[in-house]
Order: sequence, then structure tokens, then C-alpha cells
Amino acid sequence: METLYRKLLQGNRKWVSKNLRQDPDFFRKLAKRQQPPVLWIGCSDSRVPANEITGTKPGEVFVHRNIANMVIHTDTNLLSVLDFAVTILKVKHVIVCGHYNCGGINAAMSNKYFGGIIDNWLRNIKDVYRIHRKELDAIKNDELRNRKLTELNIIEQVFNLCKTSIIQNAWKKFNTPHVHGWVYDVANGLVKDLNVTVTGKNEMDRIYKIDF
Ligand code: CO
Repeated sequence: METLYRKLLQGNRKWVSKNLRQDPDFFRKLAKRQQPPVLWIGCSDSRVPANEITGTKPGEVFVHRNIANMVIHTDTNLLSVLDFAVTILKVKHVIVCGHYNCGGINAAMSNKYFGGIIDNWLRNIKDVYRIHRKELDAIKNDELRNRKLTELNIIEQVFNLCKTSIIQNAWKKFNTPHVHGWVYDVANGLVKDLNVTVTGKNEMDRIYKIDF
């Protein structure tokens, strides 16, 4: 255990020297400011690191991660990240990136008790299942049904973002961001764009539109 812990610190030193070899000013430039064009909302799963799978560097992606990449309208942590990214940093794109083989999705599809707090979090995924029950129940193969819920959950979280006053305010003031839904396949490393991009109020259910 101790060696693993040390390995992380050694890894950091190696990473610093590698970056300095490529660009001696790498950290000096980053220390000045950040102006990332993208907010990433992903799953906490260790197999889905935002920068690594998109080939981006420090400074390029503002990141929020939680179990199953959820956008819950009472989550002040997520809303604060969203507000800062959209209103202050003025990111051009917000990407919800979920992934297949997601533990959160698997857990939500079961009826197991996971110990308390997490069960309440999973409830939000179960709501997505209920909304799309007809389509999901029609898929008899467990794995395919699981993959479909993963995708539908990402799409619902894209919509949840658009329902916030934060996103709608930004559309009005800056005409940005574009909100996207992506799914990552841990089995082959590829990202698929679900093509559900929302760029303005007219593309959403009218009950959620806010007239400012
Ligand atoms: Co996950």
C-alpha cells in the first residue's frame, strides 16, 4: 500500500519533468490564468479521465465528475461549477459524457440496497428509467437495455442542464454554450456523440423555458 502511495508522488515528478522538457514555460504559463473552452460533466469512474481520453492538456477542460454524470437541480456543488464555467469563464461547450459499463447505471437497474446515501443518489437514475420504461422494457437483452439506459440518462442530463436558469441566462447574454451528450466506451476507448446538442431555448420542452 505504501509503495503504491509513493508511486503516485514519483509519477508526479516524472510528469513535471516530461512537461518541462517539451516546454520550459509550461507551468509558468498555466500559473497566470485558465481560459478553458469546455466544461466536462463526467462520471467519477477511474476509467474515464476527461483530459486523457480527449487528448487535452491542463488548462483546456473545466471538469465536474460524480457518480453516473448526473445533473441534479438541488446539487449546489454541480450548480456552482456550472455557474462559474458558464457565467465567468464563458465556456463555449458543456459536455455530459457518460460511459458504458457504468457502476451507477448497473446499481440503479437493480433493486439492491447499497448502504444509504448512495441509494438516494441512484434514485435519480431510476427516475430516468421510469420516464423511458416502455422503450427500456421492450429490450430483452440485459446488456443492451443497460447500454440504452446509459444513453437515455446522458440525454436527460443534457436536458437537465438546459432547464437551469444558469444555462438559459447564458444563452440570452452570450449565445453560448452548446450543450452536448457523449458516451464513452470503456471497452474500446471511443467516444460517440449522441447528437443531442442543444443550443437555445427553442430546442427544449416549453414548460422549462424561463422568460427573463
Ligand atoms: Co460510471
